[in-house]
Amino acid sequence: MTRLALAATALFALGSGALGALQTCGQSQYDPAQYVCWHSQFLCPITAGEGLSYCNGACYSKFMYTCNSNNILTLLPPVQGPFTLTVSNPSVPAIHDKPVTAQGLKWFLNGVTASYCPGVVPPAECPPGNITSIVSQNGAVSMNVKVPGGQLAYLGPDWQVGYTQAHSAYIPSGSLTTGFGAYEGGGFVNLNGNGGGWVACPPRASGPAGNIWNLYGRNATNAASLSYCTPINLKINPTAGGFGAWQYT
Ligand SMILES: *[C@@H]1O[C@H](CO)[C@@H](O)[C@H](O)[C@H]1NC(C)=O
Ligand SMILES: *[C@@H]1O[C@H](CO)[C@@H](O)[C@H](O)[C@H]1NC(C)=O
Repeated sequence: MTRLALAATALFALGSGALGALQTCGQSQYDPAQYVCWHSQFLCPITAGEGLSYCNGACYSKFMYTCNSNNILTLLPPVQGPFTLTVSNPSVPAIHDKPVTAQGLKWFLNGVTASYCPGVVPPAECPPGNITSIVSQNGAVSMNVKVPGGQLAYLGPDWQVGYTQAHSAYIPSGSLTTGFGAYEGGGFVNLNGNGGGWVACPPRASGPAGNIWNLYGRNATNAASLSYCTPINLKINPTAGGFGAWQYT
């Protein structure tokens, strides 16, 4: 499983970027825009702006794995409690470190969180609603909301992340509600795309106004049509307990 995921990551990483000045790593020459050299002899690819780390023969992403003290590649533990997400890809400064924002029943990048608390709820019982707070357990993911019934998040048929409207269980057919990894000290990983991960796509006229990017899960089928997008990681930032919003809109 581990090897498969890593192999697929490397596969999606191929074929990008012009060749820069080559450097030497052990017996090989490499382009430092595409690889990092470990221990002066092992090459790992750069994917989503992250130079993969090296552990005893394997390249790995710090958003999902760690190399333990016995030099064994180990999955990070599942995150406990609520978290926000920020984009990670230093090669795309327009969105690097910017938040994932819930608005219009979808997740966007670098937008503004849209939330609501009904007037009948005493203001003291309304969470601030100004950050997009998420919880994830056993491969599923939900918005961290107080509204009875909650708001389940899912990968929609278009592989954008959506979430249910408050008081509704409706999920478009063809959506996926599991297959997400949320790792302590790591990232929020889409395990559905066989290593395709997440991509950030530049703003569209049909989307929200402003420099708001779109988030897609990538897979073998849609990779070509998403070639104008950039691979990213989603970094987990644990938040103090408590709900993020009454409901996200
Ligand atoms: C959200 O609102 C709370 C309460 O008004 C405030 O303390 C906090 O700084 C705000 N956070 C952000 C990220 O705007
Ligand atoms: C990949 O995503 C597209 C939506 O962009 C979806 O229609 C397709 O079924 C997905 N392919 C796989 C193999 O899951």
